[in-house]
Amino acid sequence: MLIELRASDDRLRGPKAVDAAPILTSAYRAIADSLPDLSRVRVVADYIQYRQNFRDAVELRRVEPWAIDSATLDGDARSWEVAIDLRRAKPDLLEATLKDALDETNGTSSRLPLEQWGHGSRSVIWGFNGLYWKALSLWEQATGKSYESALPGGESDARNVQAARELILKLFELWDNLSTRRALPEELYVLEIGVGNGNQAAVFLDEFRRLDREKGHGYYRRLHYLMGDYSPHVLDLARKAVAHHPEHVSSLVLDALRPTETLGFLRYKAFLVYISNVYDNLPTDEIVRIGGHLFQVETRAVFDRSAAESLATSVHAKPDDLPELVARLLRLGPELLAEVLPEHFPTVTDAVTFWRSAWEALRLEERYVPLIELDTYEIAPEIGGELLRPIVEANGDVRMHVSNGAATSFADTLPLLHPHGVLQCHDLFVTDIHQYVDGFRGPGKYDGSVVNWVNGRLLAAIGNRRGFDVSFASFAHRTGANVLTMTARSRD
Ligand SMILES: C[S@@+](CC[C@H](N)C(=O)[O-])C[C@H]1O[C@@H](n2cnc3c(N)ncnc32)[C@H](O)[C@@H]1O
Repeated sequence: MLIELRASDDRLRGPKAVDAAPILTSAYRAIADSLPDLSRVRVVADYIQYRQNFRDAVELRRVEPWAIDSATLDGDARSWEVAIDLRRAKPDLLEATLKDALDETNGTSSRLPLEQWGHGSRSVIWGFNGLYWKALSLWEQATGKSYESALPGGESDARNVQAARELILKLFELWDNLSTRRALPEELYVLEIGVGNGNQAAVFLDEFRRLDREKGHGYYRRLHYLMGDYSPHVLDLARKAVAHHPEHVSSLVLDALRPTETLGFLRYKAFLVYISNVYDNLPTDEIVRIGGHLFQVETRAVFDRSAAESLATSVHAKPDDLPELVARLLRLGPELLAEVLPEHFPTVTDAVTFWRSAWEALRLEERYVPLIELDTYEIAPEIGGELLRPIVEANGDVRMHVSNGAATSFADTLPLLHPHGVLQCHDLFVTDIHQYVDGFRGPGKYDGSVVNWVNGRLLAAIGNRRGFDVSFASFAHRTGANVLTMTARSRD
């Protein structure tokens, strides 16, 4: 039996430590009593810092045998991973819960699935995530909280004035140089993807106008600030925030995964592409290396039976109706849902309450399926899985995010950059694969949206292959924050 503690040093010893020993003892007792072959079990204990997440305090994952021809294996060669959340596990309860789960392994799960097993990036959780941004005002009205209060530090770094000023002064410097060489185009484009409430855009534009007046360049007159987001509602908010710059702002409904589809005209023209707290909100798969073998983490969204029963009762339905009701909620949104199913949702408020309760109850079951041919796995369009090999093999066994959405978005944004342009991104990046070993990197829930740290090593590899230097630095204007600034610029 292998036991792995994936928590930072200060969670394992010192004043902030959890008492891991009784938790592990309980797990050991349950496993020793229930499983015949202890060599086929791993215990992985994380400290999950997200108070809202997709796991119960203890979860069981099946590990499919890693063999090219599993028919040649004797008997049941499946192994198990027992996943424990050190923050929430209670030693006295854990033993019984785990025993029940292990006893169930040959029977049916007590949970109600909302979907088939599949890659994490295709889970229904991303439908919830998209709905959150599309119907943000309804959610915020119900909770009385803004989305920003759920971000690291309680507000977005995007609205930091000093950071905006530095960025603008660097742009002015570049433009002055190009202007001296008569190489500065008339139109000066800046693109922001994933604009939220528009605070960043407002800070940037206010500072830009102020600094331009101070320096007398006349760049503000030539500036086009493009705001892109897939949520028309969010774009409305953002437009209001920058209404005092009407001549210089355009807003576009676009998918961050495919910016060139909407912004073909911008190819090689953007001097700055700015993206903050978006990559950590895009769909991702996870892979795991165990004993040198690679596995795909497959997931399926489920409700615990008891949660399903109370959720169903609250909307005059049966638990088995829930997968269809959830699917309709995600397709239609709460307003239309209340219109078409008044017998379940008499008012929009009822539909929003159902949405919030479903989100709270949502769990992800996981299983590990062999990933035998990495070259047939697609990270993003035209980016094959082999790019992952040196990263996933750098540090022994590891479980890590592929960050497919961020990779897709990044690769499709680089072609928009002017040869001297810069892509700047504030986000939660993993830059050293060891960070996957000593901390939990997602998925967590931020209010109604999903958060996963972003595999910075992979983005750097993608940028490098395309001729870009990619660097990471701590966000200079806030201490103690996990947010890093990634900068990509052409090597030429
Ligand atoms: C956490 S908010 C960040 C807002 C702002 N940049 C900030 O830092 O405060 C994420 C933003 O990304 C947008 N977003 C998420 N996924 C997207 C996608 N696939 N395409 C376009 N926008 C997306 C959301 O609508 C939302 O406005």
